[in-house]
Amino acid sequence: MNPNQYLSIICKQATASLKGNTVVKQVSTEGLKWFQDVRFGMFIHWGLYAILAKQEWVMHTDRIPVPEYEKLVSQFNPTKFNADEWVSIAADAGQKYIVHTSRHHDGFSMYDTALSDYKITNTAFGRDPLRELADACARRSDIKLGFYSSLLDWHHPAYRFREESGLAWSDYIEFLHGQVRELCTNYGEIACMWFDGDWPRHKMDESNAYFMAGGSFEYDKLYDMIHTLQPDAVVLNNHHEEPHPGEDVQGFEQDLPGMNTAGFNDTTVSDSPLEVCMTINDHWGYSANDHNHKSVKALVHYLVRGASAGANYLLNVGPTAEGEILPVHAERLRGVGQWLETNGESVYGTRAGVVSPTASTVSTRNGDTHYIHLLDYVSDNATLDNIPDSVSSARVLHTGESVRMERTDKGVVINVPEAQRDPIDTVVVLS
Ligand code: GLC
Repeated sequence: MNPNQYLSIICKQATASLKGNTVVKQVSTEGLKWFQDVRFGMFIHWGLYAILAKQEWVMHTDRIPVPEYEKLVSQFNPTKFNADEWVSIAADAGQKYIVHTSRHHDGFSMYDTALSDYKITNTAFGRDPLRELADACARRSDIKLGFYSSLLDWHHPAYRFREESGLAWSDYIEFLHGQVRELCTNYGEIACMWFDGDWPRHKMDESNAYFMAGGSFEYDKLYDMIHTLQPDAVVLNNHHEEPHPGEDVQGFEQDLPGMNTAGFNDTTVSDSPLEVCMTINDHWGYSANDHNHKSVKALVHYLVRGASAGANYLLNVGPTAEGEILPVHAERLRGVGQWLETNGESVYGTRAGVVSPTASTVSTRNGDTHYIHLLDYVSDNATLDNIPDSVSSARVLHTGESVRMERTDKGVVINVPEAQRDPIDTVVVLS
């Protein structure tokens, strides 16, 4: 019996990996397949910081002391929040999962946690948006909800203020793990747990109490709990390294796999399922002065370039303090959805393509069907390498018209007449 057979026998529901001699649970095979098939999700960064409208790091960047920042609690009353509306914007965009911040670095819980009073249900608003989003997702069958959780916490006394509070690091770990347990227990079946803020593990920066951790985050225990309570949920940790045991997906922040324009992603790309998270403008949390919204075309190109490399695309919006996704963002998202309506089969359920990507062409694949995405026309012809001999026909996906296809010594050459082109991305199906 090989080690993998052994592992699949002892872990009935979940798959597993080995760490030394210890078996570490992973997500179930079904959960992983679901995650890879859906390809497109909505990230939501929403918290108290939306009031200040200067992105989610404002507490740190403006060095706002805890008692000052806490005053935002009495101002928070997002009366325009409507979970069904947010979920329907995601659905219209063709997104199949939503990852919402349960607690960001500022330490404010956006749900009704029993483990802290510093939470949204203690504002004038008084409601639990994660409950309402979970219910809105449960009312339809095409979208799942998952949660972002910050490992670091600029507010918690056992994280930043152990000396003053007399609390211990273990108190913080109990809180962190306890919150994850709540999220994995109280909101039905979830898509994922998405961790962020791991960097103090590497850099114990004693000069900066915002970042100072006190020890390990006890990941083995944490991940094991998640995989036990939610066997189909994937675990991702945004530490910018290849996945560690118990993590199911490798994440890339603000860059496609293999690129490093943002400076976060100098790591290798592993064989694991991948996910690219990206802002729709330049910031995660609502920023009133950020008008650099990506176009529908740019968003589709990121989505399909990611898919061509085997990655999901988790696209972020930062709602306002009133609880609204900006109309310009809803409009861009719906534009992506419109393109997906006729071209979705070239994205959903696909895996990384076999054709070498170029500046203007990428590909995805589903079994023996290859989808060529013509993103730009540097020339009328596209030359494609690695096309299997079995491929004998080519057609434009959104019109159904067949396309001339010629085998040359440089590869297969296709030529889509101008009238057949989609201004965003013309998909040619080779089968
Ligand atoms: C970074 C930022 C954080 C954001 C995250 C999303 O780690 O610190 O604010 O939530 O990226 O990927």
